Amino acid sequence: MKSKILVTGGAGYIGSHTVVELQNNGYEVIIVDNLSNSSINVLDGITSITGIKPAFEKVDCCDKKALENVFEKYHGIKAIIHFAASKAVGESVEKPLLYYKNNLISLLNILELMGEQDAPNLVFSSSCTVYGQPDTLPVTEDAEVKPAASPYGNTKQIAEEIIRDTIHANNSLKCIALRYFNPVGAHPSAAIGELPNGIPNNLIPFVTQTAIGIRERLRVFGNDYNTPDGSAIRDYIYVVDLAKAHVISVERLLNNKNKKGLEIFNLGTGTGLSVLEILKEFETATGVEVKKEIVGRREGDIEKVWADPALANKELGWKAETSTREMLKTAWAWEKSLATKK
Ligand code: UFG
Repeated sequence: MKSKILVTGGAGYIGSHTVVELQNNGYEVIIVDNLSNSSINVLDGITSITGIKPAFEKVDCCDKKALENVFEKYHGIKAIIHFAASKAVGESVEKPLLYYKNNLISLLNILELMGEQDAPNLVFSSSCTVYGQPDTLPVTEDAEVKPAASPYGNTKQIAEEIIRDTIHANNSLKCIALRYFNPVGAHPSAAIGELPNGIPNNLIPFVTQTAIGIRERLRVFGNDYNTPDGSAIRDYIYVVDLAKAHVISVERLLNNKNKKGLEIFNLGTGTGLSVLEILKEFETATGVEVKKEIVGRREGDIEKVWADPALANKELGWKAETSTREMLKTAWAWEKSLATKK
């Protein structure tokens, strides 16, 4: 057994896929999650894939004492992957204080405990949202960080700054911040996947729910962008590919292979697809037609963004490997498996 890794938000979408990859690579995983936006049943899904039930503590990362107890109970945690955060852009506009509180107090607690508990390694979930609408594409890590379009986006920008300042002051601490582009799909087993709470905000869960008949039609937000077909462009990356980058990042930190205290990497495929293109790809991949209507732009959306993943490719030796078609097939298999569970 390799080191003990604490995964906050490990019952969530990206968290659960990362727990599977960590376990598959021999790590002992301790999940903390307050289950505010996830289900305890995810643990069964993880166990059915890996054959190992991860340790689980229902803890809110804003509660420092409770987190401290976790470090004491599972003595010897060497690294933390911090996913736990609120992530709905629209909700963050309505409830900014909730977002600043959840996303920043939890991070402050983690950073304090890293020093106090001799767990100096952090992998942090960041987002391509920090770039806003980049001036040049594909976007590299040294692109300007633009004023955030939402309180949620601002929490990711502020979080990166807090981490930078903390490591500057205490150089025994190390962090890799991973800027995710648009994660999609589910584990190939269909035992874990994305579990949107209520009406999905994100494109792919809305597409799969429409395909299966839960939603009447997909609303395509805008066809008047300055893109070849007028719909907005994103870099859709398979969630399992994304999860694997976390294992590599943990290993890099544990083996002191990082080149600076805070390293930042884009996690994307390097290719942008428009909403209409990915919809067509979904229909081709699954043979299922998705009803759609074109409506106005969604407030706060940017026109186009896709990653330059060269730095992650070179430094982490990581590459997004899964085709769009494959990832969409897994998203569909997952939606169908959810239907059988109801
Ligand atoms: N879209 C639709 N119809 C829908 C849902 C989405 O047309 O019902 C479009 C959006 O307008 C956008 C694209 O599909 O052009 C992707 O939208 P998502 O909501 O899936 O993803 P976003 O790119 O808007 O959001 C992602 C992350 C956020 C992050 C944001 C920053 O989910 O966490 O990037 O840009 F903040």
